[in-house]
Amino acid sequence: MNTQRTAFDARELRNVFGSFGTGVTVVTSGQAASRRVGVTANSFSSVSLSPPIVSWSLLAASPSLDVFDRAGRFVINILSVDQLPLSRRFASSVADKFEGVAFTPGLEGLPVLQDCVATIECRTTERLLVGDHVLFLGQVENYTYQRKPSLLFCQGAYVQGAECSTA
Ligand SMILES: Cc1cc2nc3c(=O)[nH]c(=O)nc-3n(C[C@H](O)[C@H](O)[C@H](O)COP(=O)(O)O)c2cc1C
Repeated sequence: MNTQRTAFDARELRNVFGSFGTGVTVVTSGQAASRRVGVTANSFSSVSLSPPIVSWSLLAASPSLDVFDRAGRFVINILSVDQLPLSRRFASSVADKFEGVAFTPGLEGLPVLQDCVATIECRTTERLLVGDHVLFLGQVENYTYQRKPSLLFCQGAYVQGAECSTA
């Protein structure tokens, strides 16, 4: 459909944006146990290689926003296919999202989830309110990665990637 409009239906707009397949991350922050937060996010994007800068956005009404702001840092945890339950957990409103979740303290004590495809520890360099979300930009200070299948999300569903045939 190719239409030009000024007011959009929210459900349809979600479908349009969701047509773009992404990976799935849990973005974590907070030093002390009582202040630990984690949010499933597919808004992660790499922005610059030199200097290394990434971005992601958080709903401005999120109860976790204050912790991200105060810490001035965040960790992008890129999930593998076998970590799908973590995506569900960190997208829920369960009281303690970290209960039973394996993580280690990273730079400044922020939680770094174990067994991820990659983890990227960042210092927030810019924070911008954009509509109903807060856009965070962060400089990469540390990372880990390993070769395993990444969890993907496209058209409202979790998917598993397979290399396209060239035939
Ligand atoms: C695949 C997927 C991607 C998501 N991406 C984002 C995102 O980029 N930003 C966001 O604010 N919420 C995103 N959400 C929703 C949050 O994970 C969910 O609202 C979560 O409960 C937010 O945590 P909070 O209650 O601490 O704010 C996503 C959810 C799913 C399942």
